[in-house]
Amino acid sequence: MAHKVLITDPLSEEGIHPLLQSEDFTADIATDLTPEELKIRITGYDALLVRSQTQVTRDLIEKAVNLKIIGRAGVGVDNIDLEAATENGIIVVNAPNGNTNSAAEHTMAMLMALARNIPQAYLSLKNQQWDRKKYVGTELKNKTLGVIGLGRIGAEVAYRARGQRMNVMAYDPFLTEEKAEAMGLDYGSVQDVLKAADFITIHTPLLKETRHLLNKEAFEIMKDGVQIVNCARGGIIDEEALYDAVLSGKVAGAALDVFEEEPFYDNKLLDLPEVIATPHLGASTVEAQENVAIDVCADVMHFLVSGAVNNP
Ligand code: NAD
Ligand code: MLT
Repeated sequence: MAHKVLITDPLSEEGIHPLLQSEDFTADIATDLTPEELKIRITGYDALLVRSQTQVTRDLIEKAVNLKIIGRAGVGVDNIDLEAATENGIIVVNAPNGNTNSAAEHTMAMLMALARNIPQAYLSLKNQQWDRKKYVGTELKNKTLGVIGLGRIGAEVAYRARGQRMNVMAYDPFLTEEKAEAMGLDYGSVQDVLKAADFITIHTPLLKETRHLLNKEAFEIMKDGVQIVNCARGGIIDEEALYDAVLSGKVAGAALDVFEEEPFYDNKLLDLPEVIATPHLGASTVEAQENVAIDVCADVMHFLVSGAVNNP
């Protein structure tokens, strides 16, 4: 009998093509189910494929009596209750590599847009203002970029920032002084990075240890006029503390792709002209979406057919 797969977030059509074509699988796409509808629907499926929108809660997992595997087309698995999945014998696989380049490019786009006030100047021009004085920016060259979290995306951003002739200081629990030196980076503790940086970019997962890593105390030790980029996860920055830090002028600007609550239609940070934002677009390229869908489908199909896991 064919293995039944339910897809509840939009995934690249090219990426899921092999799954849709194979006679070994029946795949249903249902991207507008309410949580209550999903709890009823899930019972018949062997696999669930999601991106970041579907909240795979304990409640849902406990209703998923046939579920064997959850595939996450992307990196962060913070929308999946991993403990509940493990307790119920359900494997969780993600696609950690396919969107690294897109997320790093988006981070650089945000950094440059922030430094040169591009979104603000564009809006002003659209409103028939020709204001060259108001939008004087800052060069990146010779400035220090603090990178917190030097994993796949953090390392790609650091590499690109060196190309912009920035000095880069990084902190990651797994980074050593020797490795940093080999990569042409300065090595420091979180505190060192916070104190030294003109721009700070975060690339950690959202964990208990990283929740509100950038909080009131962290903003206080930063340089006056520091600028912040977050293309990792909402919740790593305490949004209330960031709001106060921008209002006081301590933080000169922030570029945010991710938020404590998503999706949202009203966030007071966006009332501040110094804050620029995108609606979680870091991985939203044709290439990245194809890559992560291909990777996660391959892992889920392999597991359902063979019982073996490529990417636990
Ligand atoms: P990764 O696992 O390769 O790297 C994360 C790094 O953070 C690791 O090197 C880890 O050692 C480090 N880290 C963990 N705890 C830390 C701490 N307390 N302080 C400093 N560093 C710490 O992950 P990645 O693929 O580089 O992804 C990074 C983040 O970007 C994740 O949160 C991911 O969900 C997010 N992401 C967002 C988008 C987007 O669309 N905006 C796209 C892709 C990934
Ligand atoms: C990820 O963790 O992969 C990103 O946030 C992108 C996404 O969810 O699509």
